[in-house]
Amino acid sequence: MLPQPFVRQTFTDKDINPYISAESKADVLNRLKGYRYGSMFLPPGKQPSVIFPGFDGGAEWGGPAYDPKTGLLYINANEMPWVLTMIDAKKRPDKVETFAAAGERLFAKNCMSCHGQNRQGAGNYPSLIGIEKKYTSDQMLALLETGRRMMPSFKDVSKQEREAIVAFITGDVNEGQRKLTSPTPLDAYLDLPYDMTGYNKFLTTEGLPAISPPWGTLNAINLNTGKIAWKIPLGEDENLTKQGFPQTGTENYGGPVVTAGGLVFIAATKDQKMRAFDKRNGKLLWEAKLPAAGFATPSVYWLNGKQYLVIACGGGKLGAPSGDAYVAFSLPGK
Ligand code: HEC
Repeated sequence: MLPQPFVRQTFTDKDINPYISAESKADVLNRLKGYRYGSMFLPPGKQPSVIFPGFDGGAEWGGPAYDPKTGLLYINANEMPWVLTMIDAKKRPDKVETFAAAGERLFAKNCMSCHGQNRQGAGNYPSLIGIEKKYTSDQMLALLETGRRMMPSFKDVSKQEREAIVAFITGDVNEGQRKLTSPTPLDAYLDLPYDMTGYNKFLTTEGLPAISPPWGTLNAINLNTGKIAWKIPLGEDENLTKQGFPQTGTENYGGPVVTAGGLVFIAATKDQKMRAFDKRNGKLLWEAKLPAAGFATPSVYWLNGKQYLVIACGGGKLGAPSGDAYVAFSLPGK
């Protein structure tokens, strides 16, 4: 069937990561028994479903690069199973609630999808366990009003409800007894029957993806034939390479650019590298370490007769350290 798929379309018990211990494999199989899996189009439900090729691609948001000379479309992708679980939402009761009860209900509605069902956090979303030791309640209320970086503002939630959420996460017993008298007006659209427990990757007990590699790839698709011209794992986990793993590719965020001179440039991997590949066959021609992972798409530009490539190196995802550098490389040429 054309165009050829550039990522695996399903995750099943046949795709389990072969580089894990027998106990770990048994654990993955056991968890999988409780999940729905095997299709890209599983509706969310209370029985967990495996989201594959993943919440964050398949294809990455950096967008593909296209080369009119070769007719090839270059696209980086992830192959990571995630587990999606819905739970019944607690309805707002008719009677006046305590802050403790309202806080618990509102946490599930507003915070759980990122901070987790047990406030344990996941990926880029910090754990809120013991958060009362780090911030005062007033500091947390200020944070809920403004938001911070990837944390949204909750100004649309009434002030009293925000106070109730903070009373719940700090476990403040006195505050917990207060009564919620001015809730946010009920919006039928937002008054949904289910809440989602969070963005959870399907990882093994070793912390590896439950699926066999590659976990990240760069693909060249011939748009004239619909066939894949070449496909390579993108990125490397040095710890795994040292343990004898073949190149696994890493999850990646960002995109490629292709030049008239015949190169595909891409960073996007968590190993903090910028790479150049031969656009015809995917052969690695050059790589350089960046000050932080370049989870971005590079730009190519000319200045005073010289060609440059620039990338934003923000890092801060996939456990890679954060950074704030823009790095420009200059290409030889006229
Ligand atoms: C869309 C995801 C998302 C949602 C929903 C969300 N948060 Fe966050 N939260 C984050 C992220 C990301 C951070 C880290 C912010 C940063 O990097 O500065 C954060 C940080 C925090 C922190 C500070 C943690 C620390 O250790 O510094 C608190 C407290 C917090 N969130 C509470 C809440 C509460 C309470 C709610 C619900 C009302 C909520 N968050 C909803 C994503 C979210």
